[in-house]
Amino acid sequence: MELVFATNNLHKLEELQALLGSHFKLKSLKDIGCNEDIPEEQPTLEGNARQKAFFIFNNYGYNCFADDTGLEIDALEGDPGVYSARYAGEAKDPQANMNKVMHQLEKINNRKARFRTVISLVINSNEKQFEGIVEGEITREKRGDSGFGYDPVFMPEGYNKTFAEMSMKEKNQISHRARAVQKLVEYLRQIENI
Ligand code: IMP
Repeated sequence: MELVFATNNLHKLEELQALLGSHFKLKSLKDIGCNEDIPEEQPTLEGNARQKAFFIFNNYGYNCFADDTGLEIDALEGDPGVYSARYAGEAKDPQANMNKVMHQLEKINNRKARFRTVISLVINSNEKQFEGIVEGEITREKRGDSGFGYDPVFMPEGYNKTFAEMSMKEKNQISHRARAVQKLVEYLRQIENI
């Protein structure tokens, strides 16, 4: 089965191709000649993942899946959530985003937060969604320098280090994205009987 992963991140694509095995042939946006910005205008992760996957299905005619991720902080009523990438402005600067979060939580003791990934899979215009969550808390200072985004301020539950203090392998065993991807892979294998 041929499937488009609505991403240009080749690292993500290779990782998934390895998980899915040769029965599935994954294509990137570049592979299908899609160079345009895919709209992401919805107020929820679910809505954005769905909008991206249907955009490819409707405009390019490929079965497709797309993901969207956000950091949800309880004391901020779920913010930055769907606005995680541009929380401190259009520059999408991870340092500025983390500084904003830390400033807002300065006098707050409830540091509970989670990363949540939603994947939308569209096959023959039918949609199915998969969710992956990792619970944790926002630290009081940035720690570690691996990973990306909010990793230096996110400490997963049951660990004494932030995502940015973990190796990529260690993070990938428990991450929100890995959990959502695992569900997607199980589903695809099930429908293809492999
Ligand atoms: P995307 O939907 O994967 O593009 O993620 C949106 C934004 O969420 C990113 O720009 C990051 O700010 C944040 N984010 C997503 N995944 C992670 C992660 O694994 N660690 C830290 N930040 C993340």
